[in-house]
Amino acid sequence: MKPPSQPFRRSVHIAANWKLNQSRAEAAAWMREFVAHLRQGWDELSPESARLLQTFRILIFPTLTLIEPLQEMARRARIELGAQDVSRFERGAYTGEVAAWQVREVGAVWALVGHSERRRIFGESDEVVAEKLGRVLDAGLRGMLLVGETLKEREAGRTEEVLRRQLSTALEGVEPADAIRLALAYEPVWAVGTGRNADPELVREAAAFIRGVLEEILGEDARFVPLLYGGSVNPENLLGYLVLEQLDGALIGGASLDPGDFWEMVKLGAAVHLRRFQG
Ligand code: PGA
Repeated sequence: MKPPSQPFRRSVHIAANWKLNQSRAEAAAWMREFVAHLRQGWDELSPESARLLQTFRILIFPTLTLIEPLQEMARRARIELGAQDVSRFERGAYTGEVAAWQVREVGAVWALVGHSERRRIFGESDEVVAEKLGRVLDAGLRGMLLVGETLKEREAGRTEEVLRRQLSTALEGVEPADAIRLALAYEPVWAVGTGRNADPELVREAAAFIRGVLEEILGEDARFVPLLYGGSVNPENLLGYLVLEQLDGALIGGASLDPGDFWEMVKLGAAVHLRRFQG
């Protein structure tokens, strides 16, 4: 029999999803202000905390056109950039599409896959989400798969069935060895962009369920996969999620557009990361 696997401490991830916002000038100003906070905050750290925070992750998902212009500033500040979506196709007669390898070429290291706005507004099925995740991993990007139930599904008692279906379809072709390049975000659809953040107890239950399904699919490599919460997160409610042991961070939409608020949330994430890794 195999010995039980060692508990694995996962890094905390604080991620901004800018959606369809920010001009080039606005994004550059956002970055300047955020990086100024970041530098000042990091300067005050002890060498030990600074060392431990090397594995803490700050992610920004801007519109595709902003990735290249932000790349240099992001790299210097150790911020990782990602695409909000990629094509399910690799190359060919698909007008308007941008492939995963192309977003990697301009400096993305991550891509979101299966955001509820893509599923709902653009009609992306679980199968399409699975194809996209495959492209993302094939291109050498890190993929963040988003799952979550609608209000109707929750009220009908179908939350677990929906989460299981979304996870198993999207992860069908994913090898356990890819687990180190995978992240998940649980975003209940009714909490996204509504100002109605989900109760942390409800999120804890869903997150525990998601972790269980992930383990069935990926085996012990599932422990490498960070799980974030998203849905109307702001500086006031974030800590309620970060203290949950099933979670490893948050994906923040609306509240990430203010660099001061995002910095407040990054500070909370960094504090929780330090508590995880100290001692
Ligand atoms: P929100 O968006 O924070 O504005 O609810 C979250 C997301 O869509 O990732």
